[in-house]
Amino acid sequence: MSEQDVLYEVTDGIATITINRPKKYNALNIAVVKRLRELFEQAEKDESVRVVVLTGTGEKAFAAGADITEFQGKDSKSVRALAENGQALCTYIESMSKPVIAAVNGFALGGGCEVAMACDIRYASANARFGQPEINLGIIPGFGGTVRLPRLVGLGIAKELVYTGDQIKAEEALRIGLVNRVFDSVEALRAGVDELAKKLSKKPGVAIRLAKQSLNNAWALPIRESLDFEVNVFCEVFDTEDMVEGVDAFLNKREPHFKHK
Ligand code: COA
Repeated sequence: MSEQDVLYEVTDGIATITINRPKKYNALNIAVVKRLRELFEQAEKDESVRVVVLTGTGEKAFAAGADITEFQGKDSKSVRALAENGQALCTYIESMSKPVIAAVNGFALGGGCEVAMACDIRYASANARFGQPEINLGIIPGFGGTVRLPRLVGLGIAKELVYTGDQIKAEEALRIGLVNRVFDSVEALRAGVDELAKKLSKKPGVAIRLAKQSLNNAWALPIRESLDFEVNVFCEVFDTEDMVEGVDAFLNKREPHFKHK
């Protein structure tokens, strides 16, 4: 992999991770998946980073899936690491303590759609296309697509998308709840994502982390366990300096300045 296949930049507490193989529609080869994992870990450990943005270079693709050239010659044994690493990347993104925004600037197919689904919030440009086209290669999604897609859009729509392999437009993705917002152009998308990232970077970090955990639990755990967890972390945030600051700022009619403690 070229060092440049994934770019990393931190500005004002916002880490931007950019998949940078535009000639290959930002396809996720094994090396890129490994590098993405390293960079997400770097962003997680860097205390100056409050929000992470994942995007692709250019105006064509966010990521057009796993790199199909790496499938040839693989069998059930030799392909396992590829799926496990892809799934692990998605699980890592989902369980990070910081919000992760996917800025979907074009094709988000296969592994590209799966990585986007692991992010907390998806914003897309109007030219974005979503889909799980694996069926057309005689395979199935392997980075968590058959698990996250039905949770996001419902089982019936997920089955239709996975069985047909059809692509859907950004507006349709918005209608079914796969994305949060659609922007007219990639330029407008980047501005909209920047605005959201800046807004989130100013929110209290501990409360964001615990809210994310609690919301993730609602996906994965029985309701009673999720509710118990929420009560516990609701109590926990009352021990933070940010809670004292937030309540004081409200009562004194001023802007809060959170320290993420
Ligand atoms: N893996 C490897 N290479 C890919 C790729 C992928 N998932 N997706 C696109 N590319 C490459 C193409 O091979 C082509 O490379 P080349 O110029 O060296 O031939 C380049 O990216 C551009 O793709 P191309 O197919 O020529 O562009 P297009 O505009 O006609 O179509 C797509 C774009 C995304 C619809 C089409 O490339 C596609 O269907 N890609 C595969 C999507 C997929 O099945 N993903 C799931 C994989 S599990």
